[in-house]
Formats: sequence, structure tokens, C-alpha cells
Amino acid sequence: MTGNSPDLLIKNIGVLATPVGNCAAGGDGQSDIQFIENAFITVKDGVITVVGSAENLAHIIPGEKTVVIDAGGKLVTPGLVDSHTHLVFSGWRQKELSLKLKGMKYLEILKMGGGILNTVRNTRKASLDELVANGMKSLDRMLEHGTTTCEAKSGYGLNLEDELKSLMAIKEMDRYHPVDVVPTFMGAHAVPEEYRENKKEYLRLVVEEMIPRVARDKLAEFCDVFCEEGVFDIEESRYILECGRAHGLVPKLHADEITPMGGARLAAEVGALSAEHLIYATDDGIRAMAEAGTIAVLLPGTSFYLGESFARARTMIEAGVPVALATDFNPGSSPTESLQLVMNIACLKYRMTPEEVLTAVTLNAAAAINRASITGTIEVGKLADIVIWDAPDLDFIFYHYGVNLVRTVIKKGRVVVQ
Ligand code: NIG
Ligand code: FE
Repeated sequence: MTGNSPDLLIKNIGVLATPVGNCAAGGDGQSDIQFIENAFITVKDGVITVVGSAENLAHIIPGEKTVVIDAGGKLVTPGLVDSHTHLVFSGWRQKELSLKLKGMKYLEILKMGGGILNTVRNTRKASLDELVANGMKSLDRMLEHGTTTCEAKSGYGLNLEDELKSLMAIKEMDRYHPVDVVPTFMGAHAVPEEYRENKKEYLRLVVEEMIPRVARDKLAEFCDVFCEEGVFDIEESRYILECGRAHGLVPKLHADEITPMGGARLAAEVGALSAEHLIYATDDGIRAMAEAGTIAVLLPGTSFYLGESFARARTMIEAGVPVALATDFNPGSSPTESLQLVMNIACLKYRMTPEEVLTAVTLNAAAAINRASITGTIEVGKLADIVIWDAPDLDFIFYHYGVNLVRTVIKKGRVVVQ
């Protein structure tokens, strides 16, 4: 009997709120949330085995070793998925804040050799162990705020050795931290200083040396490019993403973040799984994404922090583009690990409903990193990645803001935050 009893039983759930399915939800589907009142969940071997309502709880027979959690009548959702982070770096950039307050723009700081290039200098100097230690600390914060899976990009090495070091750091973190960390190669995050006068040669390095090596050593699943004025233009971005794809790396793209470049359309044309930022995406670009099924990963924390405009989330949802939300966690344009804060900003500035936002940080975010078949919803057969909130219902976490409302986090059936 003990063999069949669950490893974990979560009972007395006031309301369980989850999207359903294994595919990104767009259009009306974005707000399709299943609510179950007085619910319970059982877990075996890290996987959800039953999702039921209280009247069926009598059929569940806990064994001696079953861990029983009383959710106290509170809200339960899937673990959050942060589908866009620049987790691997050394050195914060708090000095940029005062420059920003004096009116200096993000791209001006980069042009002067600061910004991303400042972090590149520090990241190159850091050892693998230092990068892992920094990243683990941020992963702890993410987990405390409800994130159970995140994507992480390289892109502060910008040479073969330091890009490999960054991707190896991601591998280590994924191995040792409860949060699952999904790797993206972003050697095309900026043109490093030593290639400033010879961008062509840097492109050659990315395409002929970095991508083949990253693919050969299976260090990344995705390839991302910063398609931006003064960084990589449309044709350079296309070239890199197509080369990545030829080596098995799925394309993603930083598109139309600060300047309207036509990045949304490019993402659709190269069959990118997702396009990110999209603050200045045009109607044409949004239409192209809807037709191609490209997921929009929107980063409202970055708009907030850079003092930029906000992406047109409502237009995208109405056009049928599945929207995901992420932190963009990085030391320059979005120094926060809190996806909860991003959820609050999205609700108030994008005018996304709590239901739409929940889909955006669970199912759609998981789909944006090819993980929707294993996480992102509370359904039988998926990983038991679950958050118990100190909130009576879904609306509450969008209303009571600026504090951490996570009570308990469960990752693969194990209680990791209590
Ligand atoms: O997504 N845009 C490029 N990359 C990051 C910023 C990185 C940095 O400033 O260090 C972003 O905003
Ligand atoms: Fe980014």
C-alpha cells in the first residue's frame, strides 16, 4: 500500500488557478484559466498524479512517508517560469543609475564602452566558480519569489573562451540549484571592444567558431541576438540565427527594444520560437508573428527601468500572438529577479488581466523555452512545480504589490521554500 501512496499531498487549497494544455495560448486562450475551489493535489516521484476537489479527498490514502501540506485555504498556481534572463555576469552597474538620472540614454552608455561592455570586462575576469556563485544567489531570490524554471543567456563573454565559461556556469547551476535553468547562447549580445572596427570578423567568430562549438558540446538549446541600432542589424541577425539553426539551435531574438528595426518580422521570417521586448514592434511585425505562431516574450520591467514606452501587449493579444512575460534579469536594463514585480507592472501598464498574466508567466513562458510539455500548468503528468501564495485568490497578488506574497514553493514535488 505504501508503494502506491503519494509522496506529497497538498490539501485545503482555497483556489487552484492554472492554465491547461501543452501549447502556448494566444488570443482568447490567453485568459483561459481553470479555477478549482477547495482543491487538493497529489504527487509521486516529482510528478502530479491527482488534481481533485475536496469531496474526492477521502479516496486518497496517505502513507507513512507522505508529506502533507495544508495550504490554509490559500491560492495555488503553477511554479512561475522566467523565460528571459541574463543570469550569468559579474559586477553590478549601480553607477549607471546616476547617469540615467542625468538624462543619459542606455545606448549612449553602451557606445561609450559602458553598459554591456562594462559587464563583459568583469565577466571575462571572473572564474567559472565566481559566475556560478553569483548566479546561484540570484536563483535563490528567483525561487523565493516563485520562479521554478528559468532561461539563462550567455552574452557577457563575447569571445570563445568566456562564452563557453558562461554556458558551463549555466550547466552547473542547473545541476546544483532546484530551479531548472535552460541555456541560450547569445554571443551576439554586443560587438566587443576589440572588434569595434571590425564587426565582420566578430560575426565570423560567432558563426564559424562559437556556434559550432556550443552546438557540438550541447551547451545551449537556443541562439539569441541583440538586433538593435548600433549593435546587430536585421541582415546580420538573420545570418547568425540561420547559422545557429543549421547547428540545431532554436532562434530567439531581442527585437524592436529601443529602436523600431523590423525585428518582429525578422523573428517570424526565421521561424524564431519567440521574439522578446517588442516595444516598437509595428502592426506588420505583429501580424507576421501571429501568422508564424511566434511567442511574444514581453519585458515590462525593462520598460519601467529604462523609462521607455511599454510594448503593445493588448494589440498583440488581440492579434492572436501568445504573450509570455519575463524579468530580463540583468545588471543594466532590469536588475530584478522578481517575476512577481513584472506581473504587477504588466497588469497595470499593459492592462493585462490577472488571468492573462498568469498564462504569460506559466504556460506561455514554458512554451517559449520548449518546456510546456513538462511544466507551466498543474495537470496530471506534469512536474509538481507549484506555488502556494499568501493570498486568498488570484486578483489579490495583482492588488497587494511590492512585497513577496509567496508562501511555499514546491519544485519537482520537493518543498524548496517554506
Ligand atoms: O535585454 N538588450 C540587451 N540586453 C539586455 C541588457 C543587458 C545589459 O544592459 O547588461 C536587455 O535589455
Ligand atoms: Fe534581454
